[in-house]
Amino acid sequence: MKRQPSSSPRSTKRRTVSIIGTGSYVPEKILTNEDLSRMVDTSDEWITTRTGIKQRRIAAKDENTSDMAAKAALKAIEQAKISPKEINLILVATATPDMLFPATACFVQKKIGATKAACLDISAACAGFLFGVEIAQQFITSHTYDTVLVIGADKLTSITNWTDRNTCVLFGDGAGAAILRHRGGSHGVISTHIGSDGQYSDILFMPGGGSRCPITRDNVDLNLATIHMTGKEVYKQAVTAMLSAAKKALEQAGLSIHDIACVIPHQANLRIIEAIADRLGIPLEKFYVNLDRYGNTSAAAVAIALDEANRSGRIKSGDYILMVVFGGGLTWAGTVIEW
Ligand code: UT7
Repeated sequence: MKRQPSSSPRSTKRRTVSIIGTGSYVPEKILTNEDLSRMVDTSDEWITTRTGIKQRRIAAKDENTSDMAAKAALKAIEQAKISPKEINLILVATATPDMLFPATACFVQKKIGATKAACLDISAACAGFLFGVEIAQQFITSHTYDTVLVIGADKLTSITNWTDRNTCVLFGDGAGAAILRHRGGSHGVISTHIGSDGQYSDILFMPGGGSRCPITRDNVDLNLATIHMTGKEVYKQAVTAMLSAAKKALEQAGLSIHDIACVIPHQANLRIIEAIADRLGIPLEKFYVNLDRYGNTSAAAVAIALDEANRSGRIKSGDYILMVVFGGGLTWAGTVIEW
């Protein structure tokens, strides 16, 4: 079914915001399930059947979140055929900034030469990239900025407890980026729904390193500067929140799930994606999945998947795509785009 432009909220009051370039980067080093089975009490069989993950990428010691983010950004800039100096705003969604301050976006600015941009980080865990898309959209539709660089980048392996088999098998490192800009025509972001529920802030978090538990020897010894997660509860909330975000974004767009050519979900667990496919009533083949190769790269995951789907031709001009994410906070978001 083709959308009726007259019923679109965007067509009446919104300036079309398009993604004019995407890019991604993952580190060279691969850590397989076999490698992990020599580090903790786990197996390829357990990780594959419970998560779908086969391997993940690990950043080098001196490879920071901003290094990965800048590499992804330069690829997006190249594809968009713009100069870095045309970028008005850089948003970096990350849970693993290079430092608590300044913002990782400032380091990225320096690395890519986007000298005219304002820079800030977004703290929305794995959902951050789509929060960035929404913020970019608001700045562009309000005519404040023309060109915004949104990046999802994380080095989760820098806050992984490598002795905890419940979490260390899940995560990997990487970055994905997109350039958003107003462009004539209908192609672009149609709707975005973002949401949060702080009541569940204690099921996925890192307690140490902030003002509550500053970096002290004792806090580090207590493993407070690593990811803490109640897996089962996160799983349950992830399915509920992603389903709800998908439905709200579709409703705002005036589209049905059957209009969507490709769903690009957060890449945390294949079972979560299967549950969502089942409840939306669409086949798994409609979902772009790369978690088998990268694990959960947090804010980077959906951005890397978008770039791969774009560059491989999995999504084509005129396709309606749905991106849907979930993260600690809790945070969630859904976005419908006409590609
Ligand atoms: O970006 C969002 C971030 N997080 C997520 O999306 C995570 C959401 N949650 C999940 O994906 C799943 O809950 C997990 C993959 C984390 C765990 O799967 P599960 O089916 O919920 O397993 P479980 O936690 O109930 O554990 C089942 C068993 C336990 O053993 P017992 O108590 O039954 O003897 C665990 O100790 O599996 C054990 N286990 C493992 N065994 C081998 C937990 N981790 C491992 C492991 N290898 N790596």
